[in-house]
Amino acid sequence: MTDPSRDVSPVDTIVARGLTKSFGAVRAVRELDLTLQRGTSVALLGPNGAGKTTTIDMLIGLTKPDAGTVSLFGRSPNEAVKAGLIGAMTQTGQLIDYLSVRELVTMMAAIYPAPLAVDEALSISGADAFADRQTRKLSGGETQRVRFAIALVANAELLVLDEPTAALDVEGRRDFWNAMRAFAARGKTVVFATHYLEEADAYADRIVLISHGRIAADGAPTEIKATVGGRIIRATLPDVESSNLQALRGVTAVDRKGDAITLNSNDSDATLRDLLNTFASVRDIEVRGAGLEEAFLELTLDSDGADS
Ligand SMILES: Nc1ncnc2c1ncn2[C@@H]1O[C@H](COP(=O)(O)OP(=O)(O)OP(=O)(O)O)[C@@H](O)[C@H]1O
Ligand SMILES: [Mg+2]
Repeated sequence: MTDPSRDVSPVDTIVARGLTKSFGAVRAVRELDLTLQRGTSVALLGPNGAGKTTTIDMLIGLTKPDAGTVSLFGRSPNEAVKAGLIGAMTQTGQLIDYLSVRELVTMMAAIYPAPLAVDEALSISGADAFADRQTRKLSGGETQRVRFAIALVANAELLVLDEPTAALDVEGRRDFWNAMRAFAARGKTVVFATHYLEEADAYADRIVLISHGRIAADGAPTEIKATVGGRIIRATLPDVESSNLQALRGVTAVDRKGDAITLNSNDSDATLRDLLNTFASVRDIEVRGAGLEEAFLELTLDSDGADS
């Protein structure tokens, strides 16, 4: 642990500037800037094809950007990987065949300057339950746990995980996130890509929403929700024009299906007052906080036209 090549700066872990990558005509990532502080847990959240994997692969030096720079602990991605500072779980790539799980994790541990004990990586990841099985005989969820064990055994400062809980069942997910929390509590930094809005909301300190290769929003989960107003009001109200609902204070969006109306509001108190004062026949009123799901849809819809 006293290896000076592993000394890292206490502040910024990742600084990416102007990251850009195209595949033919597909502009996968466009001038993306990102600065991540040490000890935080950051979710890259976005739909299929948003550019999450391309971003992650550029961050860890697997893909060369067309333009832009990445610095990890003040080094290039390759230097940081070589110094054992990065543990990664990529979205693709098979496990090596004809080895047992334990043999594979032991082999990977040997690559790193200050690895975690193999048994510890196996037990944190839950792969200890099938440590003696051949890797080619594992289920999808078991394979995922082995990939996690390999990322953990690096004992890295930064863990980069591309959809780490894909293929895990409910219990597997819970175990995974508990392990991740323990890891982050030691002052380590975690970046993970996910489609799961609840997962980003529950486990990240910060959410970077990616849409069409760009950052559509960036902040604490609560800030992301506040960005789009935060409250949803549902009610039953016959024979009303959408434009009359849109005119109520605080309303940012209106949806009507028959008598059922749904309003997005950034000031639900004012909206409710206006609603009750204006429409005597309104009933069945229900107010709830807008979840990340709504925030996500609204924000990504906004940037749909950004393809040009
Ligand atoms: N090697 C490649 N060759 C051609 N196109 C690619 C390649 N890799 C990615 N793309 C394209 O770049 C865009 C971004 O892909 P990327 O894999 O980064 O998305 P993602 O956000 O990780 O999606 P998912 O949630 O499905 O994993 C997509 O349109 C994809 O088809
Ligand atoms: Mg991906």
